[in-house]
Amino acid sequence: MRKINIILNKLKKLINNKKIKNNNNQNNLDFYKGIRNLQDEIAPSYININNPKYIEIDNMYYSGLIVVNYYREQNDLLLKNILETNINMNISMFYEKQDQYKTIKDLTYHIGNVGVDIKDNNQNREDIDIAIFTYNDAKYIRKEMQVNNEDLYFLYIYINIFSDNLKELEHNINSIEGMLQSKGMQTRRASFREEQLFKSCLPIFKNNEDIKNSARRNILTSGIISTYPFISSNIFDENGILVGKNIYNNSLIFVDRYNTEKYKNANMCIFGTSGAGKSFYTKLLILRYRLLGIEQYVIDPEREYISLTKALEGTVIKIGPSSSEFINVLDIREESLEEGEKGYLATKISKLIGFFNLIFGNLNEEEKAILEEKLIEVYNLKNINFDDNSLFNYDKENIISKKFKSSKDMPILEDLYNILNKDEKNKKFAIKLIPFIKGSLNFFNNYTNVYLLFFNKLSNIDISRQEK
Ligand SMILES: Nc1ncnc2c1ncn2[C@@H]1O[C@H](COP(=O)(O)OP(=O)(O)O)[C@@H](O)[C@H]1O
Ligand SMILES: [Mg+2]
Repeated sequence: MRKINIILNKLKKLINNKKIKNNNNQNNLDFYKGIRNLQDEIAPSYININNPKYIEIDNMYYSGLIVVNYYREQNDLLLKNILETNINMNISMFYEKQDQYKTIKDLTYHIGNVGVDIKDNNQNREDIDIAIFTYNDAKYIRKEMQVNNEDLYFLYIYINIFSDNLKELEHNINSIEGMLQSKGMQTRRASFREEQLFKSCLPIFKNNEDIKNSARRNILTSGIISTYPFISSNIFDENGILVGKNIYNNSLIFVDRYNTEKYKNANMCIFGTSGAGKSFYTKLLILRYRLLGIEQYVIDPEREYISLTKALEGTVIKIGPSSSEFINVLDIREESLEEGEKGYLATKISKLIGFFNLIFGNLNEEEKAILEEKLIEVYNLKNINFDDNSLFNYDKENIISKKFKSSKDMPILEDLYNILNKDEKNKKFAIKLIPFIKGSLNFFNNYTNVYLLFFNKLSNIDISRQEK
């Protein structure tokens, strides 16, 4: 087998020569030749073009197909079924836009000529049939271009199939040929032209002159749509969960919503007519995320997820005027900061300002400042300050063993209410807090007693209004 290091080697020499010529005056240094460059990086170790049916590059066999004709009434996506196979191939498509004015002029000339031929009638029947055929085609193209403002393009499609096994290659070529035929496309094998086809399929934007003529076909703008290639929509995230099947190619779809490199956030919205399966799908997600050990919370005004939560040994927390479960908004939890982060109180206060901004209506800067001051005061009552150590209880005898303060060590909304009430100026805030202290929303005004919420993998927060 003759092994040749063609093209790229030549190219390398050319470039090197040029470089040396360019730099003749300054640094015509021999050691440039010995530097490893990009060509060395990408060049294969050998290319064998001795066989007319395939070329061999680094143990990989490449064999090409040229699409030479298309079924004229094809409206479906032409390449759909071959894009969805798992056969290794490179597909190259070239479009060349033709001058509209010149095309219409040529067509008109042709239509005139053929029109006369048909009228002449002194040819045999077959000739006339062909003439009528092209005559109608030409008229159709001209009409589309003039009336519907379409453009005429030349279309070239090359397919280069590769495999490291000749038998498999042959098998794959056969199946691709079959698929293309079923879509109404005729193909030719690129025998004796494998190298040209290979080059045309490289991402270098070069349509090889030697094979161009056999591939060139006319196509109008509307026809180009059917060559749209970006249709194989596979979503396969490595740590994802199965969400269903791709309706086009039956491939399984795995989505990992928490992959922040791929998705901006994990938000999701499910739409569907009633009975379409929205709830079913949501529950399926919950089940599968549970299997992955992901912590989940369900806010459940319809009490729809309670049995699921129970079945998964999650906690159901009922929040309402008569509930005995409380969530203290002023509670600071050890897990509220990531490991290594600092500033429990500062983080908490900035979150609380957000919370009060919601319940008090938009606060201006002055009001926010007052509130912040009062919040610091409330935490100070409980000996909590900006020093993170103040959030831990110390064992008197053993200073090293420190424990994060429990929920009973935290202030509650009522403490804040009392502080706000002291000052006439801040009464307006205090009044707005009344429903949260004494009224219907008083589940916020107590020490948190639903610790399971934070440790359980699934928590169902039932916020339904109706009493049970
Ligand atoms: N993928 C599915 N496979 C089997 N049954 C399903 C599927 N999706 C939904 N269902 C069934 O269809 C019915 C309606 O689904 P549901 O999720 O309640 O609809 P929605 O919440 O959209 O109104 C339920 O009985 C559910 O069990
Ligand atoms: Mg539903």
